[in-house]
Amino acid sequence: MKIVHDTRSLDLDRTQSVGFVPTMGALHDGHSACIEEAASLSEQVVVSIYVNPTQFNQGTDLQTYPRQLEQDIVLARDHGATVAYIPDDREIYPDGIEAAHEQAGSILLPSVACRPQLEDRCRPGHLAGMIQVVDRLFQLVEPTIACFGEKDYQQLLTVKAVFEGSERFPGLRIHPCRTIRQADGLACSSRNKLMDEGERARAVGMARALHVSSYCETVPEAESSMLNTLKEHGLDCEYAVVRDAGTLEEVVPGNPTRSLIAARCGQVRLIDNAPGPPLEDPDTAEHAQEPPRDLG
Ligand code: PAJ
Repeated sequence: MKIVHDTRSLDLDRTQSVGFVPTMGALHDGHSACIEEAASLSEQVVVSIYVNPTQFNQGTDLQTYPRQLEQDIVLARDHGATVAYIPDDREIYPDGIEAAHEQAGSILLPSVACRPQLEDRCRPGHLAGMIQVVDRLFQLVEPTIACFGEKDYQQLLTVKAVFEGSERFPGLRIHPCRTIRQADGLACSSRNKLMDEGERARAVGMARALHVSSYCETVPEAESSMLNTLKEHGLDCEYAVVRDAGTLEEVVPGNPTRSLIAARCGQVRLIDNAPGPPLEDPDTAEHAQEPPRDLG
């Protein structure tokens, strides 16, 4: 596996497919699964490691974001990456970080990123900064396929809406990867490392809340059962909602739903999501729906 810091040295073979997994490092099993998926779909696999300042709306969150570059390089290599691309700020934002922050403010986002009142409400500017860096990374790497985890569901739908079928990146496919969980159901996340033992034990309430919601029969019932489960585990809820799985707007009976949660466990902000309750369309109620999935 090649380790590259400056973009000119990427030197990818353009006659072959290029799979791409953008990351912010502190790699875990969720990242490994995305890398393996990219390796199964393409001949070359670039994994980028870059902690993007423009998508952090709190300076402390950026400062405390876990960093473990040497371990990351080994993990990327062991799971099929052919290139670890580790650019610095100048490579990504040649006009400087301050200018980049300003430019991020004028990025137009698709409705899935600004109307749902989810991450867009709780972390203003986060999705714009994310799109800004993904756009820049796509320019530099020119992938044929890019893998994104369902763990960050609003991010995945936003990336799909912005880049799939776009004239700027013709032919680029955005490939979703399922959420990888630890044995008790907690979704793998770089931020899990920041929790102490007690917080880590309570964090299982995230997966339990999603699990409970999948058995409910109405949206209010599902949302209040998630809220109660979060409370029972001492998790401070930012949102716990059931939405249309495709648009993240209010559910449309008969369409697939998604349950989405953001909550604080001590100082650590956790997000997770899963298929929501199957809400039947009264006109076609006799058709069987997909049964709830076990997250445990
Ligand atoms: P990061 O949090 O490092 O995640 C990189 C990729 O790994 C994302 O596509 C994310 O959804 C996926 N991922 C994280 N946890 C996962 C899990 N438990 N199961 C499956 N996939 C998982 O997301 C970002 O970085 C940044 O916003 C980025 C896209 C790199 C732009 O800076």
